[in-house]
Amino acid sequence: MADQNNKAKVQKINGVRGMNDLLPADAAQWAHLEHVLRDLTRAYGYEFLRTPIVEATTVFQRGIGEVTDIVEKEMYSFEDRLNGEQLTLRPEGTAALVRSVIENNLLYEGPKRLWYTGPMFRHERPQRGRYRQFHQFGIEALGFAGPDIDAEIILMGQRLWDELGLKGVRLEMNSLGQANERAEHRAALVAYFEKNQSQLDEDSQCRLLSNPLRILDSKNPEMQALIEGAPKLLDFLGEESLKHFEAVQALLKANNIPCKINPRLVRGLDYYNLTVFEWITDELGAQGTIAGGGRYDPLIERMGGKAAPACGWAMGMERVLELMKVSESLPEPQAQCDIFVLHQGGETLTAAMIIAERLRSAGIDTILFCPPDGQSASFKSQMKKADASGAAFAVIIGPDELAKNEASLKDLRGTGEQKTVSLDGVLEAAIDALVRSEEHTSELQSHSFIS
Ligand code: HAM
Repeated sequence: MADQNNKAKVQKINGVRGMNDLLPADAAQWAHLEHVLRDLTRAYGYEFLRTPIVEATTVFQRGIGEVTDIVEKEMYSFEDRLNGEQLTLRPEGTAALVRSVIENNLLYEGPKRLWYTGPMFRHERPQRGRYRQFHQFGIEALGFAGPDIDAEIILMGQRLWDELGLKGVRLEMNSLGQANERAEHRAALVAYFEKNQSQLDEDSQCRLLSNPLRILDSKNPEMQALIEGAPKLLDFLGEESLKHFEAVQALLKANNIPCKINPRLVRGLDYYNLTVFEWITDELGAQGTIAGGGRYDPLIERMGGKAAPACGWAMGMERVLELMKVSESLPEPQAQCDIFVLHQGGETLTAAMIIAERLRSAGIDTILFCPPDGQSASFKSQMKKADASGAAFAVIIGPDELAKNEASLKDLRGTGEQKTVSLDGVLEAAIDALVRSEEHTSELQSHSFIS
């Protein structure tokens, strides 16, 4: 005892800032979102592709572009201590997916529609909706050049927001044209900002030399008037680029998708051309962009593949779940199980365990009470656990019941009725009771024993 008192208190270890645990209370909501996403990808003919979390750093340097916030400041990069290789925790999915598509020659047979989901890592300052480990769902359509696919991937997004019951999401779109058009615009922009250099803040002074387009992204209120008056890329687009942009807009209009043209939307990654877009909400504070993407025709060739057009978008899963909460469209929490089995240890435990296995084999989700002290517990305390589990029914096997080869089946949600059934008849009685209880009917119908 004295020894125990003298023991130094062991310090607890916390998680890394900006990297969150997914706790059981939230797991059902994530599962619901993942379920909807799977259905959505199937509805549009997308195939799943998973890349590793770690890639060679060059994948992102070359893919996203050296002069971007992500590559300059936000990547978790490190050296492989065995061979000195430069590696990076992926900050996004597109460059890595393109690397995989090229390496595995996936475009050999023609265009591909692909999707992915998983954790991404960016060393940003954590705040509401902005994390250092976050999760993206993304779709990428590779090998399609026409405006039809730009429109289709946007329709897919809209269908998703409708399906999830999100409120207050707006679509903003722009065209970044082609490289030569951007070069002309860039020259005009540099001339404009040089003429007004005294009005640029420090950050924008640096960007003037490295990436003047990013000055348009500045949130500094003192620079907004200057930015407003800057030459607009849309005025530098050639005939082909304009035609593509107008065709996307016409297809969206024909499908009743409202969209605002935002000439200042440039996106933070360097691989885009032509159509770029974001879905934005005012409901989530500063981090209101729930998804973004666009066309990135130059990327596949830039990554060493045979030139092929492509477009896609990705959404932040945490932000979408947060917006579902604000929109009050999160699903009701689910019960942990259908049936909770109670017993008094010894032979009643043996019988209870056999019954629980029989129920599970029939597709009924079952929790068997296990006493925390490894001994036993009163029926009263077990019943509290049964109630908290959300189970619809309890199966109770006490010594008296077991002596008569019987068990009790108790309704926990409806009438509270308790009836005695033979041990061999527990399964049949449980199925009968669950089918009768309205909330379980549809779920059980998917099990073969009902049909
Ligand atoms: P992105 O705009 O960098 O694009 O990220 C897409 C979405 O990921 C954002 O709209 C946001 O919802 C979420 N997100 C980004 N950073 C964070 C963060 N630190 N914490 C929480 N959520 C975040 C891309 O990543 C492109 N790969 C999208 C794309 C796909 N373009 C073409 N295909």
